[in-house]
Amino acid sequence: MLAPFLMFFSIILPFGLIFYARLIAPHRLSKKARIISAVCIVLLLAAISLAMPLSLYTARDPQLYMRYHVEAWLPWLYFLMTFICLLLMLVIFRDFGWTLSRIFCWARQKRAAKTAEPEANHSDAPQSSDTSEKASASEAAASDEAAADEALSRREFFKRVSTVATVGGAAILTPAAVMYATKGRRVRHFDITHARFPQALDGLRIAHLSDIHVGNTIGREDIEEIVAQTNALNPDLIVITGDMVDGLPDYIGSWLEPMKNFKAKHGTYFVTGNHDHLWDARGWCKFIADLGIRVLDNEHEIITIGSTPLAIAGAIDANGDRKNRKWKSDPEKALANIPPELFRLMLVHQPRSVDRCFAAGADLVLLGHTHGGQCWPLNHVINAMHKYARGLYEVDGHLAFVSCGTGYWGPPLRLGIPAEIDVLTLHPKA
Ligand SMILES: [Fe+2]
Repeated sequence: MLAPFLMFFSIILPFGLIFYARLIAPHRLSKKARIISAVCIVLLLAAISLAMPLSLYTARDPQLYMRYHVEAWLPWLYFLMTFICLLLMLVIFRDFGWTLSRIFCWARQKRAAKTAEPEANHSDAPQSSDTSEKASASEAAASDEAAADEALSRREFFKRVSTVATVGGAAILTPAAVMYATKGRRVRHFDITHARFPQALDGLRIAHLSDIHVGNTIGREDIEEIVAQTNALNPDLIVITGDMVDGLPDYIGSWLEPMKNFKAKHGTYFVTGNHDHLWDARGWCKFIADLGIRVLDNEHEIITIGSTPLAIAGAIDANGDRKNRKWKSDPEKALANIPPELFRLMLVHQPRSVDRCFAAGADLVLLGHTHGGQCWPLNHVINAMHKYARGLYEVDGHLAFVSCGTGYWGPPLRLGIPAEIDVLTLHPKA
């Protein structure tokens, strides 16, 4: 345990240095107050450094998990992690605003000095005597000193207010972000039209789930809730586009058991995501198949609804072969040999697979992975990073829909980008 703890501690130590440099060092504090603040930061980082290795270890060893009652206190460490993430974000925002205001003040002073210069040069005030000159000089120095003192104490006051607001803001936002991530899941409805979609299947409803990340803080109760919420939508198909788990099937497998209660008229389908391949991908695929969910590993299935056939294809995740060469993503293979007249629904996990699917003839690609960024302003970062980041895209007659995720990853943190179950109702284009 010591080696991973030290590794995580050294990774997050720079955050501690940032907190000390930006929240403690700028203030006129006593030596004792500084030492207490530094110790608090180190303890906070140490607690968080414990969370990651512990969750990794305990997810591999159920006995260890039970022995140390990890379920009782690990969520609190994740809660702290949410606080640290939010605090870091708010410090960055505050300093950005602070820097902008200083640039603005500097520019204003520069402009004022330029206007004052010509006036001073052309002043025709009478020359004063030596004594009165000295008196006015000392008066000016005294008033300058008083003004400087006032400015300093005003600056110190603003600094303290901004520090209290930053830490207080993170403390207030933390429970909100945790609640939003854990209880804020919503159902979103989309009507999707496509020229090749068969008239006979007009109104087909697909419940799209993605990135559930069952593991550290998402457990059996959440799965029961997701299954009930999905079944209540009365979907024709349920699809799950990867990143189902963060843990091993021997241990957290039982948490997924409620998934055998998924009810869709024409079946439930799953493709792997990058996180599924970090664990026992083979074990998971077998486990998920045993729950009655069809796992699509670079393959397709043709289902017949009424008398109309529809092709559902799915590819292994694009990172699948990083751990095992046999798990290579092959969307072309998945879409091969589908009769050309059939509508091709394709499931993948990552946005970088989408163009390959389009080139291989997919009509509608469903995917996840991005989580929509999980909170503002990371949604903008995600938009910049991925060509297909969130929602519906159309490229030369091919469609792609990206889910923001049904769970979350890392600490429970979502703000402005809730977890979602998407209901996609398909129509032929008029
Ligand atoms: Fe992912």
